[in-house]
Amino acid sequence: MIPALVQIDGLTKRFQTGGGFLSRPRAMLAVRDVSLTIGKGEVLGVVGESGCGKSTLARLVLRLIEPTSGRISFDGTDLTGLAPAALRQMRRRMAMVFQDPYSSLDPRYSLAEVLAEPFRVHGQALPPGTVEAMLEAVGLPATLAASHPHQLSGGQRQRVGIARALALRPDFVVLDEPTASLDVSIQAQIIALLADLRDRLGLTYLFISHDLGLVRYFCDRVLVMYLGAVVEVLPDTRTAPRHPYTRALMQSNFAPDPSQRRVIAALTGEIASPFALPPGCAFATRCPLASDRCRAERPVLSDDPAHPVACFHPQ
Ligand SMILES: Nc1ncnc2c1ncn2[C@@H]1O[C@H](COP(=O)(O)OP(=O)(O)OP(=O)(O)O)[C@@H](O)[C@H]1O
Ligand code: SF4
Ligand SMILES: [Mg+2]
Repeated sequence: MIPALVQIDGLTKRFQTGGGFLSRPRAMLAVRDVSLTIGKGEVLGVVGESGCGKSTLARLVLRLIEPTSGRISFDGTDLTGLAPAALRQMRRRMAMVFQDPYSSLDPRYSLAEVLAEPFRVHGQALPPGTVEAMLEAVGLPATLAASHPHQLSGGQRQRVGIARALALRPDFVVLDEPTASLDVSIQAQIIALLADLRDRLGLTYLFISHDLGLVRYFCDRVLVMYLGAVVEVLPDTRTAPRHPYTRALMQSNFAPDPSQRRVIAALTGEIASPFALPPGCAFATRCPLASDRCRAERPVLSDDPAHPVACFHPQ
């Protein structure tokens, strides 16, 4: 059993929207009672349709947003309730790579300035040659240090995003659709770089993606989310899914093209509103196997630690 780096217990995030002029406040649970463990050195994939709570879960784990309830511990330290100074120390060990390297890099700054920023923020000295070494570590020529983000290609920009995330040598990195805005050939190069960095630096990744091909190639285990809750955890990428939603997802050929990924062809029925979840299984409105029990009772993840499934009629 690999030792745990991240441990999450009953994590829930409630968002309230509206409540302005002429609108009543509405509340929804973007993340519902999620518990999971990420082992040291593991690549844990997170999949699910747009809006199912993947990014919210990631932001909670990094404690960029406060959970409504639940606990997160990192390398044995409980992050919930940690004093700000101690939390800042822990944060250096975690980082995030965003989907869109265009908007996550400030165009006014040179790459040298972009890459020096994490050191400045954490009041840490920047030894000479560090920026050049960082560029080379992600496969970019050191001569790019004086360039600005708009002078780079999309793939080069994402390499800079990765270098910046790794600046303070974190142990844990959230990759939130890191290749979604890139061409397919460039995606493969970025994934190869991430895999190589994991091996070299012993990193642990939480990898959010819409591209099941990439997930199959890159991840050790896969968490499947539906309307804020985990419905299945695949123990590896070869085991057949047991949850009807995961099965539909896997059969949908999950288009990497964001404009085509909202709908799963195999499913009919409306997705339930996150503001008014049905009393039973949240997937019952679309599930071909839904029974009366499914519509009345909410399934929870099974106890099977190797392959948990939240379904009354798993396959
Ligand atoms: N700050 C916020 N305030 C209110 N609602 C929010 C906020 N952030 C996210 N949400 C809602 O929470 C739900 C989950 O959003 P989230 O961004 O985590 O989904 P996602 O799975 O990352 O989607 P995508 O695949 O499109 O990135 C969505 O319904 C979203 O509208
Ligand atoms: S609990 Fe019922 S409705 Fe929900 S996924 Fe399983 S079979 Fe379908
Ligand atoms: Mg997201």
